[in-house]
Amino acid sequence: MGFPDNFLWGGATAANQCEGGFDRDGRGLANVDLMPHGEDRWKVAVGAMKMFEVNSNYFYPGHDAIKMIDYYKEDIAMLAEMGFKTYRLSIAWSRIYPKGDELEPNEQGLQFYENLFKECRKYNIEPLVTITHFDCPIHLTKEYGSWKNREMIVFYERLCRTLFTRYKGLVKYWLTFNEVNMILHAPFMAAGVFIEEGEDANQVKYQAIHHELVASALATKIAHEIDPDNKVGCMLAAGNYYPYTPNPDDVFDAMMKDRDNYFFIDVQSRGSYPNYAWKRMEQLGVNLDIEEGDLELLKNNTVDFISFSYYSSRTTSVDPNVVEQTDGNAFKTIKNPYLSESEWGWQIDPLGFRITLNSLYDRYQKPLFVVENGLGAYDKIEADGSIQDDYRIEYLAAHIKAMKDAIELDGVEVLGYTSWGCIDLVSASTGEMSKRYGYIYVDRDDEGNGTYKRIPKKSFYWYQHLIETNGSEL
Ligand code: BG6
Repeated sequence: MGFPDNFLWGGATAANQCEGGFDRDGRGLANVDLMPHGEDRWKVAVGAMKMFEVNSNYFYPGHDAIKMIDYYKEDIAMLAEMGFKTYRLSIAWSRIYPKGDELEPNEQGLQFYENLFKECRKYNIEPLVTITHFDCPIHLTKEYGSWKNREMIVFYERLCRTLFTRYKGLVKYWLTFNEVNMILHAPFMAAGVFIEEGEDANQVKYQAIHHELVASALATKIAHEIDPDNKVGCMLAAGNYYPYTPNPDDVFDAMMKDRDNYFFIDVQSRGSYPNYAWKRMEQLGVNLDIEEGDLELLKNNTVDFISFSYYSSRTTSVDPNVVEQTDGNAFKTIKNPYLSESEWGWQIDPLGFRITLNSLYDRYQKPLFVVENGLGAYDKIEADGSIQDDYRIEYLAAHIKAMKDAIELDGVEVLGYTSWGCIDLVSASTGEMSKRYGYIYVDRDDEGNGTYKRIPKKSFYWYQHLIETNGSEL
């Protein structure tokens, strides 16, 4: 009963939100470096405002982020102190291939991650590596149109071969694309894709998605060839849709909206485009350019496990009078009257987590890996220097309890759990530092001021105890 003995407890970060050093040691500029702080951030994310280079009128919080590039030894030591079994991080593509289309990688970038992985291994922490967490060298956007262009598969394949070869024996768990479905909502932020005037947005997006799916299958194939011990997962921004009412129209709408997300994983996990996807594309007027061998590649190279992020469930209604919306992971949904919400309006639904775990397991029958979950909240340093983040503990405890129920009572197979932003980092959607998720506080504010000092919060000791007792004492 309870969590399996080898359950991988840990936390997750992404390169562009924590590393800093955006132009150091040969690193090239990427789409994620062009996301400013402030109200224009989201316009850039969705492609409504184009940025190809750094503009001195803006502040880009990711350029320094929390300077993990300098602090990684100290940070990993703190993760180890909490008892982490795994640490999820991502590779900055442009640190390895600064422009993206070079034939030779940047040794300094490769060395940085090698040092980092070795530091993890020193503490028996299993690295869980996202190959691309939203990032794309900006040169690939400028010159090729990013994932719109089939040549991206070649560049991505080169990146993967380099990583799998260099880190063989150091890294075993790989994720091909972070929140692969996010391209539907924020194509520039999630994949470096701009939709030009006059282009059919659906055609562009689904073609780009096809390229990513083929690239993901190819990466899975190569990972297995280079090291049969490698385990490759897909990654979905999950959270089931609820119908607002039992009106069959609402129920049907929820099913269709879930499919928009499941579609990606159906291909990555089952190996083929589901019939409903062909129909949907037909109705949208999308004509996929598929090359010979693509469908076979997808069929023969499905993922080993399903990873996902879960922050909240989603709600939908077809009734035009039901208009009250709430914020969520990258897009708004109808506000669910039964749920409370975070200070950023993301609704809180631990049972929805159990529902999502069950839905994914029912559908794919493959082990799941929860690679993001957490509460973004304002933290306050007390007079005695402590940070009493009971609200975060409450959120995490409720969600971990729901996951425990899914494992213990429903029989869902879960490999591990990495809560999001285990150390405070820059928020992807808002660019704020003050939207904090961590067990470790980082002294830096929204304008980039601060000492970068790391301070363990109350939740640090809570999570340490939870890992020590393998989740039996919540
Ligand atoms: C996920 C992303 O969408 O949610 C992360 O994979 C992101 O990169 C996380 O940081 C939390 O979102 P936000 O907007 O609160 O940072």
